[in-house]
Amino acid sequence: MAKVTFNKSGSGSETGRLIIPALMLKILDIKDSKEDADRRISITYVDNKIKIKKQKDKVDDDTHNKASSVVTFYSSGKSSRSGKVIIPVDMLQRLKITRGDNEVNINIENDEIIVSKNLKNEKLRGKDESMKIVSIFNIKGGVAKTISSINFAACLADKGKKVLLVDLDSQADTTKIFKAYDIDDKSVEDVLLEKNMDPRDAIRPTEYENLDIIASNIKLAFAEKKILLDTTRNQQNRLKKALDKLRDEYDYCIMDCPPNLNMITINALVASDEVLVPIKIDKFALDGLEYLLESIQEIKDEFNPGLEFGGCFITMDKATSVNKLVKDQLKGILEDKLFDTTIRDNVKVIESTLEEKPVIYYANKSNASKDYRNLVEEVF
Ligand SMILES: Nc1ncnc2c1ncn2[C@@H]1O[C@H](COP(=O)(O)OP(=O)(O)OP(=O)(O)O)[C@@H](O)[C@H]1O
Ligand SMILES: [Mg+2]
Repeated sequence: MAKVTFNKSGSGSETGRLIIPALMLKILDIKDSKEDADRRISITYVDNKIKIKKQKDKVDDDTHNKASSVVTFYSSGKSSRSGKVIIPVDMLQRLKITRGDNEVNINIENDEIIVSKNLKNEKLRGKDESMKIVSIFNIKGGVAKTISSINFAACLADKGKKVLLVDLDSQADTTKIFKAYDIDDKSVEDVLLEKNMDPRDAIRPTEYENLDIIASNIKLAFAEKKILLDTTRNQQNRLKKALDKLRDEYDYCIMDCPPNLNMITINALVASDEVLVPIKIDKFALDGLEYLLESIQEIKDEFNPGLEFGGCFITMDKATSVNKLVKDQLKGILEDKLFDTTIRDNVKVIESTLEEKPVIYYANKSNASKDYRNLVEEVF
């Protein structure tokens, strides 16, 4: 019925083309775009629907620029039965319409063409198109797992992606940055321990658009023991079962792991599609790396064959000769599993934690913010 293709050309303004039955355009009296008068359609996004409407009067509204209002018809052959409407790509993304997607409903209601995502089919979507779950993990403490989780999530949300951040550390640093600490609220501990809990009950919005959080608190420190004592249920896949219920609701889930390999981190890695490893660049950077990589491989072999080791990235980078030496050694060991972008050591990061903000919102022009934005482009 309806096909979507993407047209990525043009000066940065990405658009998508939605193919619509010509009959519908005729009913609305939208004609070939060669006739200038029929460029006058308005395209809006309301209530998870894209609405296409014929403009009765001349449009001088800036928001309906040419890119969002040009209609083209195929002029010959069988394909003349359909028309292409060029739509701003962010509208398609908000509806989660992806390249080549042909599971879209297109209907006429009153004097509008209504385009909506076929939710029944969305449940059948492939893994690649649903929420990607990424763990930020290292057995070592203080390597910027938390800072990286926070800023990856913030950068992705800032790009318009819908992001769920999960704090898996009982220190709850991530939770505190987003001012979501509450010992009595439903938290990640409940998600791990309560059998029939809806994980949505533990999700809290943050003050930032597109960014929600499942918080942690000190009670998580006792959750591992409770999981281990409860032998009536599978112990490793509890988080996976909960997060899989949210696959259609977010683009990314970023998980901030604690600095050890316990039942909580095993749950994170069993739930994940990908694991990323921050490495603090200092003279101890290589210690334990081999054991870490082996542990990830073991979890992949034992519990989660779909787990991908995305790679390592360097944090707190400084222009010193020791750093250069260690970086070269890391490159030798990890080869293409070491990302090129490094996060520079930057006092703005420490300040941002005192202000309880992701650094990209605290000091957008700082080196660390630039690095996190670049790293997100490289990694995601
Ligand atoms: N790019 C950076 N520049 C300067 N300081 C940084 C940077 N990244 C992180 N830090 C600081 O390093 C410390 C450790 O960072 P963070 O808490 O993110 O590490 P972690 O791996 O999550 O630690 P833990 O293992 O305790 O959970 C924090 O004080 C943080 O502010
Ligand atoms: Mg941490």
